[in-house]
Amino acid sequence: MEQKSVAEAVNLSGKVAIITGGAMGIGFAIASRLGEAGAKVLVADKNAAAAEAAAEKIGGAIACTVDVSDQAQVEVMIAKAVGELGAVDILVNNAGIYPTKPVMDSTKEDFENIIHTNLMGAFFAAKAAANQMIAQGRGGKIINITSIDALHPSSVGLAFYDASKHGLWGFTKNLALELAPHKIWVNAIAPGGVLTPGTGLGGTANPDLTKIMDAFMAKIPMHRMADADEIGKVALFLASDLSSYMTGSQVVVDGGTLLS
Ligand SMILES: NC(=O)c1ccc[n+]([C@@H]2O[C@H](COP(=O)([O-])OP(=O)(O)OC[C@H]3O[C@@H](n4cnc5c(N)ncnc54)[C@H](O)[C@@H]3O)[C@@H](O)[C@H]2O)c1
Repeated sequence: MEQKSVAEAVNLSGKVAIITGGAMGIGFAIASRLGEAGAKVLVADKNAAAAEAAAEKIGGAIACTVDVSDQAQVEVMIAKAVGELGAVDILVNNAGIYPTKPVMDSTKEDFENIIHTNLMGAFFAAKAAANQMIAQGRGGKIINITSIDALHPSSVGLAFYDASKHGLWGFTKNLALELAPHKIWVNAIAPGGVLTPGTGLGGTANPDLTKIMDAFMAKIPMHRMADADEIGKVALFLASDLSSYMTGSQVVVDGGTLLS
């Protein structure tokens, strides 16, 4: 097999990448790194203003307003990538929500809300993107952002979230099997605690989660939360040729949290 230089292996020029939930937090960090590596980026987010602002910060990027839990909107998102950027080569299923509520206080609607965004949304986007990648005939990369909660619960109140992320990890492995004949590689990244607007520690406040994250911090061997870019760099690895022999894997990026 031809050995590429590091510069060639990380180069995403000529590739089109869609990042759901790309307007802020981990999604924005991923979009920024893939854009820096040369990909044409579609920042897809339900927050239209934030998506526009994010796209402006990334060279050559465009924004798309989408709620990933709505299949029709997701299909429009894929069509927009093809129509305006010319293809779909990389999909990052990052959009996710993590409201905290004990099961005993929760309703069917609470469960549906989380599953529809975190799990069903990834299915809608993966199916539509893979259809396009198969038609293009040059393979592709799908990266699902799970969580260490896909492997081990981090706190009480996240049972539905944990169900969605365990589900997304299972979905990743089976989809990797199904799409391998098309040279579409499907992997996951399982972050630990990351400084983002959603955690209330990287921008917009979320008081409930701040308390949980304080307790969580005590369990991190590296004694700090991740910067969103530390997930962005791993996403670049999985989106690029540096990970050419990886599919069906989940990369844990947690500062050692699962060890404690
Ligand atoms: N921050 C962490 O500590 C952490 C840890 C593990 C996993 N994760 C996962 O990483 C992903 C991103 O987390 P974050 O902390 O950056 O979140 P965030 O709340 O800071 O940002 C999430 C972005 O996704 C968008 N979004 C939410 N629902 C959407 C929908 N239905 N359709 C389209 N866009 C939607 C939001 O508008 C926002 O721009 C999530 O899947 C989350 O579960 C985060």
